[in-house]
Amino acid sequence: MKASLKEELLKAKQGKYAVPAFNFDNLEMMKGIIEAAEEEKSPVILMVTESAAKYMGIDYVFSFALTATKNAKVPVVLHWDHGFDIALIKKAIDAGFSSVMLDSSLKEFNENVAETIEIVKYAKTKGVEVESEIGHVGGKEDDRVSNSNGYTDVNEAIEFDKQTQIDALAVAIGTSHGLFKGEIKLQFELLEELNSKISTPLVLHGSSQVPLEDLQKAISLGITKINIGTDLKMACAKGLQDWFNQNPDGFDARQYGRHAINFVKQEAKIKIKAFGSNNKA
Ligand code: 13P
Repeated sequence: MKASLKEELLKAKQGKYAVPAFNFDNLEMMKGIIEAAEEEKSPVILMVTESAAKYMGIDYVFSFALTATKNAKVPVVLHWDHGFDIALIKKAIDAGFSSVMLDSSLKEFNENVAETIEIVKYAKTKGVEVESEIGHVGGKEDDRVSNSNGYTDVNEAIEFDKQTQIDALAVAIGTSHGLFKGEIKLQFELLEELNSKISTPLVLHGSSQVPLEDLQKAISLGITKINIGTDLKMACAKGLQDWFNQNPDGFDARQYGRHAINFVKQEAKIKIKAFGSNNKA
């Protein structure tokens, strides 16, 4: 069933767990995510990026993700992730997404504020919620590679939150997107301070490959939405590799697809249990 981002994140804050936010790039990944959430009775955030949508076909992904959201037995927040293109963000809003993220985090503060306000105004008229980022989580996100990693400045974050009236705030505390993160050292003190001064739910991007204990500590310090992309892509690829190792002459797409779904599902369940969102739906 379709759910509200803010409501799910506020419940998570209260219950001291985080709602997993998973990216998907194909039907198998999407099915693995939904099956994991249903089997674990967990709310889930199903995320589409611009390049994933372009790969699957925007109209196709809109229709199958909206159907999956409506039919799921658990709350599903259908979320447009890392929107850079304002026209596409508005298209997702019009199509019936629960929430959208604008990523203008590499722009000047005032420009980031102005663009976020534009999206918030547009989204509000359609009952859609908005996430935006302050500070910058770098790495390889979608088809973009960013080498800059700027921690969130507390005063900027407070001002940004006040001016934009967003529903969820993505902060940069030491993670980065993608597989190769170097040494991961989360700034827990920074997170604690942000959480003590900002009531809007806080979001952690770039959470693949981060030790689960670190993510759990981040949850205890106020993170309510944890974005996972790469770990599920890897699970999907491993599922396919595994199937073809066992069936070198195989060709039935339904069989290797099912195997990939199972691998994605197992990985998603590990995250769900670690984030404590199981049995919360
Ligand atoms: P990872 O690929 O590092 O998990 O990051 C995903 C993400 O933050 C999507 O918004």
